[in-house]
Amino acid sequence: MTGTLAYEVRRTSGDEELAAAIELRHQVFCVEQGVPKREELDGRDHEAMHLVAVSGTDVLATCRLLFVGPTVQFSRLAVRADARRRGIASALLERADEETRAAGARRLVLHAQTYARSLYEAAGYQPRGRIFMEAGIEHIAMEKYV
Ligand SMILES: CC(C)(COP(=O)(O)OP(=O)(O)OC[C@H]1O[C@@H](n2cnc3c(N)ncnc32)[C@H](O)[C@@H]1OP(=O)(O)O)[C@@H](O)C(=O)NCCC(=O)NCCS
Repeated sequence: MTGTLAYEVRRTSGDEELAAAIELRHQVFCVEQGVPKREELDGRDHEAMHLVAVSGTDVLATCRLLFVGPTVQFSRLAVRADARRRGIASALLERADEETRAAGARRLVLHAQTYARSLYEAAGYQPRGRIFMEAGIEHIAMEKYV
């Protein structure tokens, strides 16, 4: 994909779009990164808020928010390979902040793959604790207060 890319960031609209978001996660996490399907699909999608970046009918990126009291667990951030380094993940992180505030929650937590740590630092997240392995990939816990 070359040139400028017009996209909209919002919650998923309808079952078909949610299915497309979950298919994108499968491509990125399971096919590209080798995460086992049973770990990617952890049974919590039905209780989550799903955000997407869409261009026309194409789902370019997605992420998931789980609301647990005053804390939001942010996860499953995936951007289609040909749409990366255009600020789309950063736009989803910004929308996640807005949704957190709108829900009256105060804190976002996530497990960052260490290679992508600067993405989250640029969005205002701070690391917490030690590096650990999850799904065979190096991670670090990060959090942000909004
Ligand atoms: C990580 C990922 C979500 C980033 O999405 P993106 O839309 O390309 O990110 P952005 O364009 O908003 O990047 C913003 C900044 O984050 C950092 N960043 C993004 N991708 C990076 C990478 N692969 N390596 C190092 N830094 C990266 C850079 O500082 C970047 O700014 P720059 O492009 O001006 O250098 C995307 O590469 C992806 O889907 N990867 C596979 C799945 C994954 O690892 N998900 C994250 C799990 S924690």
